[in-house]
Amino acid sequence: MTPAAVTVEVHLGPADVAAALRHDARRGLCASPRWLPPKWFYDDRGSALFDSITRLPEYYPTRCELEILGRRAGDIAAACRADTLIELGSGTSAKTTLLLDALAAAGSLARVVPFDVSEATLRAAADILAAGYPEVGVHAVVGDFERHLHLLPTGGRRLVAFLGGTIGNLHPSQRASFLGQVARGMAPGDGLLLGVDLVKDPARLVAAYDDASGVTAEFNRNVLRVLNRELGADFQRERFAHVARWVAEHEWMEMRLRSLAAQRVSLPAIGMDIELAPGEELRTEISAKFTRDRITAELRAAGLHLGHWWTDDAGDFAVTLSFLA
Ligand code: AVJ
Repeated sequence: MTPAAVTVEVHLGPADVAAALRHDARRGLCASPRWLPPKWFYDDRGSALFDSITRLPEYYPTRCELEILGRRAGDIAAACRADTLIELGSGTSAKTTLLLDALAAAGSLARVVPFDVSEATLRAAADILAAGYPEVGVHAVVGDFERHLHLLPTGGRRLVAFLGGTIGNLHPSQRASFLGQVARGMAPGDGLLLGVDLVKDPARLVAAYDDASGVTAEFNRNVLRVLNRELGADFQRERFAHVARWVAEHEWMEMRLRSLAAQRVSLPAIGMDIELAPGEELRTEISAKFTRDRITAELRAAGLHLGHWWTDDAGDFAVTLSFLA
């Protein structure tokens, strides 16, 4: 059988990514306190480190979400009856396969749209999907989910999946605008499948973001390697300590890099020199944790109605399915 066509639509090239990094570094490293957006963790090495994180005993979210999808994929397919799966981020994970198999079994699946910032990742994903699902059209889109959502393909009945709890990386205001944009792009019958990590004992949260084997610490410091390579910076990674902290007031986890000494770092590509004080912390990630009430309210504010709420047995993580209100 001839596989259905693979198409790749590119809205974001290497020059755009480079410009975005310079912009984010300039803005964040001048700010007080200094910060960097978490998306810059994920070069090849960072993506591999994140992959290791998902297998750590302390890092429960991936396993919990997989447990939920393994049990509920059939319910999800029945509830949305989508012919198009749009997955924001990645596209060949075990989670994707569970969803695609369930949609295919329900008889409706015609198209899969993996959406990612990395063209290389996406092309690889598209080929694997095309080989695994020869009757399904693969339409890959290279873009940034904060900038290019309006360019997602329309038509049919779509399920937009944003899994892993990645929505927690957005600041509440960015989250509201993200959900609003998703909702505005949805047609009646389209669904949003959203994975959210839940509020729990802070000790478990801190352990999940500061594992005993130090993989998360290495992941956190990887952003400095990215800045060194991409901006010619001279960060010395061993001079930064990994910090993971629960911020009760905002119900989010934060990762920071704490400067262990007074140090000067130069970033020639953006013409910047920064002086870090001993103990000064640079925020590299927020990862918000949710309650059912909170995510229901945020979805509602975006014009969406939470139709289904599924958790793992321990109640650590939730997968929600929403439709236009
Ligand atoms: C991939 C964004 C869901 O926030 O838990 C893992 C990234 N950071 N360990 C998360 C991450 C530290 C992860 N997400």
